[in-house]
Amino acid sequence: MNPLAAALDLSRIHPSDEAAVWPLCLAIVQCRRSGGWPTAPGRYALVTDPAPAASRPAALLSSAAPDAPLAWSAQDGWSLCGEHDACTLEFFALYKPLLDRPPGSAPWVIAQLGQSLDGFVATHRGHSCFVTGPQSLVHLHRLRALCDAVIVGAGTVAADDPRLTTRHVEGAHPVRVVLDPHQGLDGAARVFSDGEAPTLRLCRVDATAGDVASPGNEEVLGVPGLLDANGALDARAVVAALQARGLSLLFVEGGGITVSRFLAQSCLDRLHLTVAPVLIGAGRRGLQVAAADTMDECLRPHARALRLGDDVLWDIDLRHPAPPLTAPR
Ligand SMILES: NC(=O)c1ccc[n+]([C@@H]2O[C@H](COP(=O)([O-])OP(=O)(O)OC[C@H]3O[C@@H](n4cnc5c(N)ncnc54)[C@H](OP(=O)(O)O)[C@@H]3O)[C@@H](O)[C@H]2O)c1
Repeated sequence: MNPLAAALDLSRIHPSDEAAVWPLCLAIVQCRRSGGWPTAPGRYALVTDPAPAASRPAALLSSAAPDAPLAWSAQDGWSLCGEHDACTLEFFALYKPLLDRPPGSAPWVIAQLGQSLDGFVATHRGHSCFVTGPQSLVHLHRLRALCDAVIVGAGTVAADDPRLTTRHVEGAHPVRVVLDPHQGLDGAARVFSDGEAPTLRLCRVDATAGDVASPGNEEVLGVPGLLDANGALDARAVVAALQARGLSLLFVEGGGITVSRFLAQSCLDRLHLTVAPVLIGAGRRGLQVAAADTMDECLRPHARALRLGDDVLWDIDLRHPAPPLTAPR
């Protein structure tokens, strides 16, 4: 059977199931950021606050109630309890690798690209609204909401002027990080001035001198070693600089050059590569990797496919290789 034909369409999750599970995901993230992470295995339930306030984050509490919706253990991380349909279980499973990062753990980096059947993330003019469908856009906003920071390359800010917020889902905006080593971007870009969330503009140390064009909500951060001896972006320096700021769950949103640089430097743990049924032709390249001479030299990570409406989401675990392929018997 074709595995894609059997792949679940996550966008078909029932609204009431999504409304029950997504707040649990947000509460887990909140516990990691602001305390309340479990120390003992057991069942956990959302705290119901009689007077909710934006300043008082959602929390999870140890619960003896038989209908507590979550279980946690140091070995298995978080799991959904009770009866759920396959779509709801897959929904939770997709985000579980992000949810299972305990406070104080090493940085963990997920990237995404939404690309065409012919491997492009935008047209040759840089137009990318929209490559993938609406369900994939909602998924992208969920990744933003679960991560501490969303990272984009300067080319994406120049082409898209993105807001990098979570406006299509419930959840806090991440810190927005723009990789702009030479501080060449126009300070009028929305991430630098819209005040919707903090923005860090990462630059070479010697490019940070002088006035910032748009003070807005941006902070210019000079990163030692941001460019290597060949003038190429050092993704490890980016991760280290953000970790020093307490930002350890990182989402690299694009574009193709930036995601490919993180991959080439082994700085990605996971990749969500969404393939849309569209042909762009000679556009901006998506994922680019070094050429291999033979197939056994190629990176073949463990991956599984899910559907998001008309798109196919490849959930790729870059830390675990797939078993080698064999010829049919
Ligand atoms: N479909 C998707 O999932 C998705 C996601 C994000 C973006 N996009 C699209 O991807 C395209 C951008 O991706 P990309 O791979 O070309 O680049 P990128 O990864 O966003 O940014 C890195 C590239 O931008 C260059 N750059 C530096 N300063 C710049 C400036 N001021 N203006 C323009 N470019 C600058 C960098 O040059 P140096 O190497 O010299 O520093 C580098 O080549 C856009 O068209 C965007 O719409 C698509």
